[in-house]
Amino acid sequence: MKLGRLNHIGVATPSIADSIAHYRDVMGATDISEPFDMPEQGVKVCFVNTPTSSGMDGTQIELIEPLDENSTIMGFLAKNPLGGQHHVCFEVPDIEIAREAFEDMGKRILGPTRIGAHGTPIFFLHPKDMQGMLTEIMETPKEGGHWSN
Ligand code: CO
Repeated sequence: MKLGRLNHIGVATPSIADSIAHYRDVMGATDISEPFDMPEQGVKVCFVNTPTSSGMDGTQIELIEPLDENSTIMGFLAKNPLGGQHHVCFEVPDIEIAREAFEDMGKRILGPTRIGAHGTPIFFLHPKDMQGMLTEIMETPKEGGHWSN
């Protein structure tokens, strides 16, 4: 296992529109992507890009709103009606090597490796095996940049 950069913090929200207004008007964010649906996960997602001084991509806030009652984040929002920090996502150079390494360490992986919101392979690790944090592992985008449009 080789830890890469903190790609994003996943934040659940009952309203992406309200959260976008918050990050824009309260936090001063100037680079926020258009929301898009991920029907398989039952979520709508958008990215708030934080700036860096190095010219590299900054860590993102991934805003996640449920699309329907079956959404993967409905349980979280039931417990946290205001929304809040849902997961953290670290990059790795190779998703299969990382998956094997976590399996060898006895960490529980939640479901198959799949294509995540950034268009790159991801998987999730059980928070009880990860210091209480739902942890997403994402292969570093090949061009080194964020998926965006
Ligand atoms: Co994520």
